[in-house]
Amino acid sequence: MKFIIGNWKMNGNLAEKEAMFKALKNVKTNNKVIICLPFTLLYDNKYKTIIGAQDISQYSNGAYTGDISGEMLKDAGAEYVIVGHSERRFYHNETNDIVKAKAVVAIKNNLIPIICVGETDEEHHAGRTMSVVKKMVLESVPDDGEYIIAYEPRWAIGKGITPTPEEITAVHETIFKTLHSIHKEKTPILYGGSVKSDNASEISELPHVDGLLIGGASLKPETFLPIINSVK
Ligand code: PGA
Repeated sequence: MKFIIGNWKMNGNLAEKEAMFKALKNVKTNNKVIICLPFTLLYDNKYKTIIGAQDISQYSNGAYTGDISGEMLKDAGAEYVIVGHSERRFYHNETNDIVKAKAVVAIKNNLIPIICVGETDEEHHAGRTMSVVKKMVLESVPDDGEYIIAYEPRWAIGKGITPTPEEITAVHETIFKTLHSIHKEKTPILYGGSVKSDNASEISELPHVDGLLIGGASLKPETFLPIINSVK
């Protein structure tokens, strides 16, 4: 079983959610399809698609205007939550410590955190990918509980470019070994960054790739369903 997770980012309205969830009802797959929606679309999940959120407050409740707690996400029907996406790390200055705190709160609320890690273009070109990713994993994961790691090279997100299969394999191997060193080798490791219907199948079959995290191509049934259908 592979994970096929859509990340709608700051896109979508109720009509688009309905159209997607109706389309997903007729899809036959042995894989686990999840859509991480904007907060406003989480409630009223009558189509039974598994849903996730894209962020969570590191606090339980209280005077944090604009933030959304783990309890609220659970109440709204979320089962998963993305934490530490590079866009949160970059635009909201989220550090590994904050990402870890968010993952801990998610687990406390029976949500499975999808913890994102990935190097910048500069780090990639300096040959620092492995050390950067390893440090991000070790500093961002909670000490206990179940979670998912998503490797998302920042330079590949939304750019229409992906690392080579060899590069993805090498990074996933490093993440696997890092998780093994903390006795978490059963943790699923996903790849994300410019996944489309023409590369989804190949990437999903690489060693230590347990699924895909998909942004742009998850927004419309015309682009998302072919991805789901191509992953065996
Ligand atoms: P992309 O985004 O598929 O549009 O590159 C992936 C992500 O940021 O999760």
